[in-house]
Amino acid sequence: MAAKIISGKEIAQQIREELKQEVAEMKEKHGVTPGLVTILVGENPASVSYVTAKQRTAHELGFHSVQDNQPEDITEEALLKLIEQYNEDDSIHGILVQLPLPRHIDENKVLNAINPDKDVDGFHPVNVGRMVIGERCFLPCTPHGILEMLIRTGVETSGAETVVVGRSNIVGKPIANLMLQKREGGNSTVTICHTGTKDLSFHTKRADILIVAAGRPKVITADMVKEGVVVIDVGVNRIGKTPEGKAILCGDVDFDAVKEKAAAITPVPGGVGPMTITMLMKNTVQAAKQFAGLI
Ligand code: GUN
Repeated sequence: MAAKIISGKEIAQQIREELKQEVAEMKEKHGVTPGLVTILVGENPASVSYVTAKQRTAHELGFHSVQDNQPEDITEEALLKLIEQYNEDDSIHGILVQLPLPRHIDENKVLNAINPDKDVDGFHPVNVGRMVIGERCFLPCTPHGILEMLIRTGVETSGAETVVVGRSNIVGKPIANLMLQKREGGNSTVTICHTGTKDLSFHTKRADILIVAAGRPKVITADMVKEGVVVIDVGVNRIGKTPEGKAILCGDVDFDAVKEKAAAITPVPGGVGPMTITMLMKNTVQAAKQFAGLI
């Protein structure tokens, strides 16, 4: 049986409508406009396209949004100073520094310089710690988006065997942690696979829910999954260009083959990607509400 296609695009659109309403109400009732700055260092084409999409969405939702482009050769000191300025700026509730940063800049130092109350990426150690112990925090956007997709699609996560492929700080580690927590969209039995895993398909075949963030195109093939699995494909791999110069994307999962066995699967593009940006917006609204004492 062919799988249900989980459209991140549609779910994201639904959440954006909810947020738009919320932002309009915040403005009208409390005079608060969520403010988001996205800082881009250099001109990495993928980063430019992500940041442009984030800014476009922020505008659409009625945010005060600032795009701050800095040259590739900005010093670490200057970047830290810039972050400090935004930490002090009351019109800005969320600060996002697009990663990766150039090699001469210490990424951890930069992320740690962001005020945790404005860390809408959820990468600051304070937010990571709060997430792990289940306190209120900013959840990292991609895992947050995956949870929302599972919940809104009605996937039963409680008691499910969830297998995560990938152990990055941005996706693998946090989604594994969230899926094991006793909360909506969680309470799974979680296995994390990575490049050191001896027999990857032994684990992936056991999965009721398979979340793949390996960063390699089509590493998950049909023979590696069981019938009825729910597949969340986080991969965005650029595998070529159309004659018009547009990037051709594929996920970490062999979509065409795996969809014949899965109960549900996310496409690439149009799956996890739109959810990530939307959860950044949700986090920024949360930051603005916290700042204004509305929650
Ligand atoms: N680069 C790739 N993904 C992300 C993300 O979620 N946030 C930031 N800041 N940079 C990224």
